[in-house]
Amino acid sequence: MAKETFYVTTPIYYGTAKPHLGSLYSTLIADVVSRWQQLSNKQTYFLTGTDEHGQKIMQAAQKVGKTPQEFVDSFIAAYQEAWNTYHIDYSQFIRTTDPRHIQRVQALISKLIKQGDIYKGSYDGWYCTPCETYVTAGSAQDAPECPSCGRETQKVSEESYFFKLSAYQDRLLEWYKTHPEFIVPKERTNEVISFVESGLKDLSMSRTTISWGVPFPNDPEHVVYVWVDALCNYITAIGYGDPSENKEFEKWWPANLQVLGKDIVRFHAVYWPALLMAADLQPPKQLLVHGWIQINKQKMSKSRGNVVDPMELAKEYGADPVRYYLMRKIPVNTDGDFSTGDLERCITSDLANDLGNLLHRMVSLADRYGRHTIAPLAVWAQPALDLRDASWDAIEEYKSHMESHEFHLALARLWKFINQVNAYFHEQEPWKAAKSDPAKFLEILSATCHSLRIIASLLWPVMPEKMQELLESLGHSFDREKDSIESLELGTWHQTFLLKKMPTLFVKIEESKVDSVDKADKPAEKEIKEESKESYIKIDDVIKVDLRVGTITSAESVPESDKLIKMQVDFGDLGSKQIFAGVRKWYHPEDLLGKQGTFVVNLKPRKMLGQVSEGMMLFAEDEAGKLHPVNPEGLVPNGVRLR
Ligand code: MSP
Repeated sequence: MAKETFYVTTPIYYGTAKPHLGSLYSTLIADVVSRWQQLSNKQTYFLTGTDEHGQKIMQAAQKVGKTPQEFVDSFIAAYQEAWNTYHIDYSQFIRTTDPRHIQRVQALISKLIKQGDIYKGSYDGWYCTPCETYVTAGSAQDAPECPSCGRETQKVSEESYFFKLSAYQDRLLEWYKTHPEFIVPKERTNEVISFVESGLKDLSMSRTTISWGVPFPNDPEHVVYVWVDALCNYITAIGYGDPSENKEFEKWWPANLQVLGKDIVRFHAVYWPALLMAADLQPPKQLLVHGWIQINKQKMSKSRGNVVDPMELAKEYGADPVRYYLMRKIPVNTDGDFSTGDLERCITSDLANDLGNLLHRMVSLADRYGRHTIAPLAVWAQPALDLRDASWDAIEEYKSHMESHEFHLALARLWKFINQVNAYFHEQEPWKAAKSDPAKFLEILSATCHSLRIIASLLWPVMPEKMQELLESLGHSFDREKDSIESLELGTWHQTFLLKKMPTLFVKIEESKVDSVDKADKPAEKEIKEESKESYIKIDDVIKVDLRVGTITSAESVPESDKLIKMQVDFGDLGSKQIFAGVRKWYHPEDLLGKQGTFVVNLKPRKMLGQVSEGMMLFAEDEAGKLHPVNPEGLVPNGVRLR
């Protein structure tokens, strides 16, 4: 039976600069969606590319003394290299300077001219070149600011062809009403509806004062307005306007999902469906509108000079951890601040500690006891059955979030399961069973392998390369068809795993790493660290650390975190201090209450989730990765200093 199809697109990027983290973000969302749909047994087509015409590119090329074509050509390799580095698995990279695209845009425009949807008039108003947008001035004589980017606009007076956009006002409003799922997130629909209800003017769709564009059919003095040219890429790429490609076009159109940033909603939610209606085509099924990646609450953009280079990030942290971070930490429907400190914490905590360490502990323990082939069981003990039930719940909820494009919630839900697997592994004490109960030892290994296999398959759309590595170390070769979500949903636990020791999956980031990827003195810092590892410390260095014994007088979970416990600790004459410890994986707050422990009390107070932590509790890690409080053997008065 033919598979259901799924067509997903990204906006096409202006060929004026190499990609930055914001451009990667739009593309990454589309890639994750496309891979997710493949796991859901669909045949996907994923389109991305570059927007290469218009005044903005013409002017940028002039500035550096190149022809517009030479200028745009110089960026293409950077896009393709970035997308390859980030495992962006697109089906086609379209360039609007491709002659096939040009002919197909002309075919569409000829059709609209023929049926009377386009007429010749003259445009007298303002234009924002960076946004390539016509701006309405009201009654002002002076150049108005562009409402989108705030920059000054230029006067334009020229003959122009107009598209009868106003004639589509009612049909558009009807479309939004009958297709409430058209724009995600829903809140954006209201903005679009009020814009359309306020009255649509016909759209100027050609320019005579620039020549870098698609020549207007039968009137080459005019070139097609760059936004109309660019929007058409979504249909020209799959064969619109070429009768020999009709079948291919019908296979994919209407697109299932078009991903775009919030700055370009009007073009996609108003002009684009109206043009499609005029061409007797269906609008796309859904537009997914994402927020901006910001640096210190400012949109990341070339003109602000605050762009982060995704290639630098990939070099420093690897592509998959960056992919995970962007999907986990920035909810699609809001703006999100990027910082390398945050990225590093996320890699260390979620990827290295929670996931990588689980795999590593399991494989190393099995290896230590010579267990490499892990066969499934016919009958499972209750804790393993509970874990299997938990995996099914996780799959269902993850799937529902992924289908609603709530990637951050999907990942948070999956991490809840990862922590359940960690807790299972820890509570079952496989290092003891390895010596005393080989059958139980194998069961624990098998249940953990099955869980890890599910985790890796669900995470594959987000971290394709790393998850393939993980599966490889379980002896499972990943196959996007066989490893479908359906197979996981139906999955009884019956697989045999062949464990292989592999290099560490995710490397922890040392805390001292700086908050900037391109800080110049980094190599020097690294060398000093390496050197200090070798040398001894002086007694003064030991004395600097004020270590005290204290009793935990209150302990509570921190609701915003699944790791932290907040404690009040009594240090006798020194008074009481508030101290946080990230040990919820192993302890309920009640377990710590009334216990003595050892604390560093002269650590600089630091904020954790908005509250101050005034010290650090010391723990020692056992073979299974559990942390144990470090205590004096006998009871000693609170506040006693360790010497
Ligand atoms: N060429 C037009 C799109 C034409 S589509 C028919 C364009 N290009 S762009 O290069 O300026 O932007 C492309 C996409 O990148 C948009 O979705 C935009 O929102 C996104 N981003 C650009 N900067 C961004 C951030 N700082 N953060 C997130 N996405 C951002 O518009």
